[in-house]
Amino acid sequence: MDEYFDKIACFLKKKSRLSFTGHKRSVLQQRLENRRQQLGLADISCYWNALNNSSAEEMDLYNLVTTNETSFFRNSSQFHYFKEVIIKQQTTKRIRILSAGCSTGEEPYSIAMTIFDTLENPQEWQIEIVAGDLSDNCLNVAREGYYDAEKLSKIPENYIDRFMTTTDDGAVVKDPLKKIIRFTRLNLNDLMNAELPSWNCGIGTFDVIFCRNVMIYFAPPCQQLLVDTLHKLILPEGYLFTGDAEPLHLFRHEFKAVHQAGCLVYQKTPEPGRYN
Ligand SMILES: C[S@@+](CC[C@H](N)C(=O)[O-])C[C@H]1O[C@@H](n2cnc3c(N)ncnc32)[C@H](O)[C@@H]1O
Repeated sequence: MDEYFDKIACFLKKKSRLSFTGHKRSVLQQRLENRRQQLGLADISCYWNALNNSSAEEMDLYNLVTTNETSFFRNSSQFHYFKEVIIKQQTTKRIRILSAGCSTGEEPYSIAMTIFDTLENPQEWQIEIVAGDLSDNCLNVAREGYYDAEKLSKIPENYIDRFMTTTDDGAVVKDPLKKIIRFTRLNLNDLMNAELPSWNCGIGTFDVIFCRNVMIYFAPPCQQLLVDTLHKLILPEGYLFTGDAEPLHLFRHEFKAVHQAGCLVYQKTPEPGRYN
């Protein structure tokens, strides 16, 4: 039955770039076994057939196999740099941001709260945050914008008062914040495969991309391709934030590391062809 497990792992890698080697292999095996039982299928080869005959099952598989751990204001020093340098130095009253692998929404809502707190008149700005994820389940939670009380601990108290409506057990994000975020299903693999003229799959280009704690789930050659793809999606002099375990010195790249920021942030240099 290992043969069918390998087929499913290959399917996942081809369709989403997710890699299941080492300990992740046994985690995947366990999750697939649970799913097989839930569907009442005789063995994993039957699950393989079901997967090939149903796009809904493909979506369910992504919900099942992705790791969605996240939190509000995760890696606060990155939000500090975003606020104090990036937003404050923006010369036009326009900003487009991508939260790639946004999970259940804590990352894009943290970005939105930071923007609203920093700008004097946000209503005079054109602000768009595109927040994408492979998992439909995550996007549904994100769109609802409701979070249990224990998830709110890293949000500054005055932000909760201003940007959320509290309930007995938690809080829900207010509409003005929701309005600047476009939650959308995004498979980074599509961007990585795409060729001109639709290479960016219609999502456009960005002043800032947060792509944190996503590429660690890809195999190394796919990680390199993701770095190259993110570079293409960022406007000249725009910024990329990566996760703590995803420093770009592990890759060939054309960004400039912003060392003085004290966190992982990279700027796209205006002149191409410079490697750091
Ligand atoms: C660990 S969470 C990180 C969430 C957030 N960026 C953070 O740092 O807190 C990783 C997210 O990436 C998403 N993901 C994994 N592969 C993806 C792909 N190929 N395209 C888009 N999202 C993907 C997962 O569904 C998951 O929600």
